[in-house]
Amino acid sequence: MTKLNTPGLGMASRRSVLRGSLIAAGAVVLGSGTANARAPRGPMPMPKRVPEWLIQAEAEVIAKALPADLTGYTRVRQELVAPPFAPAHEQVATGGSKIIEVYMETTERLMTVDEDTGAEIWALTFNGSVPGPLIIAHEGDYVELTLRNPTDSVFEHNIDFHASTGALGGGALTHIFPGEEAVLRWKATRPGVFTYHCAPGGEMIPYHVCHGMNGTMMVLPRDGLKDGKGNPLTYDEIAYIGEQDYYLPKNEDGSYKTYAVAGDDYSDSLEAMRGLIPTHSVFNGAVGALTGENALRSKVGNTVLMIHNQANRDTRPHLIGGHGNFVWEAGSFNDAPATNFETWFIRGGSSGAAMYTFEQPGVYAYVNHNLIEAVLLGATAHFVVEGEWDNALMEQVVAPRTFEV
Ligand code: CU
Repeated sequence: MTKLNTPGLGMASRRSVLRGSLIAAGAVVLGSGTANARAPRGPMPMPKRVPEWLIQAEAEVIAKALPADLTGYTRVRQELVAPPFAPAHEQVATGGSKIIEVYMETTERLMTVDEDTGAEIWALTFNGSVPGPLIIAHEGDYVELTLRNPTDSVFEHNIDFHASTGALGGGALTHIFPGEEAVLRWKATRPGVFTYHCAPGGEMIPYHVCHGMNGTMMVLPRDGLKDGKGNPLTYDEIAYIGEQDYYLPKNEDGSYKTYAVAGDDYSDSLEAMRGLIPTHSVFNGAVGALTGENALRSKVGNTVLMIHNQANRDTRPHLIGGHGNFVWEAGSFNDAPATNFETWFIRGGSSGAAMYTFEQPGVYAYVNHNLIEAVLLGATAHFVVEGEWDNALMEQVVAPRTFEV
């Protein structure tokens, strides 16, 4: 297996091709001071090549920019943790704005998707997990990401933060080959939950996203979350759930194909993805990653903020036995949250958040309420909640019994 993205090209040429495909859609933005810039026409296949002048124009625009004024910012390091957990953070910011340093590696690893069927994937990940880790900042902070691509990687990678502004969400400035690293600093100007994902260009974009390379960035308002009347809302815990659609190639007998190394599934995967029918839609990387022994834990009276990311495909979370007391369906914390939703809609390519306070103990299933996807494709999690049962809310008046005919 050779490095696969654009075989036969040297690194410099490959970089031009791939960056070219990345910046193609942004050509118009750069065009204000650039001769011959014009919008792509018609249905837009990602071009294989972009003129050298356009790449240079981008570099010149960036080279002319004034340095950012970072006076008054405090540097802090945020240690990222694996989903479904959240890094240590403040809900209401104290002190002034910060530069939040985070570190991620683009790890390629073999993951079991479903133990029962033997389904597995050479996942492309941020820090080894699907989804990638939750990153948290406050509005007005900077996020300063060091992104490193290990030397033994097959692929080049980058990151597009939907929360950020410019350069394709940072994708054009973070494109790294195996053995490279890049540092990107961007200002969190909009509060909300936002998808981030790898987007290395052309067909590699859906390939990487559908191999797990996506996650959530949360930007909290400096004074914390609020209901629609300005009252503060706080949570006791975060449940960070990434829903991942996989398109795993199958053998003729219906079994799942296996591959020796990352990237060997490339052509088979593209063919499977073109059908638009996922073989799996799972929470946190695998069937059962958040059920049974791996269930999320809580207790009566606790408030959970459920953050749901889906970088590629629409979904509709539902907490069976509970509700979305406050729901930021499209993710923006500038908008008043909706209340008392039964099911909420997460657009493909976005994150959303819902807050609920548990009122009864027991097992709650958190599902994609396309129940075919929940039950047959894997999109189910469990909350196991401890506490006292409240008969005033629900009571089994008669236990199941045989009735007299
Ligand atoms: Cu990638």
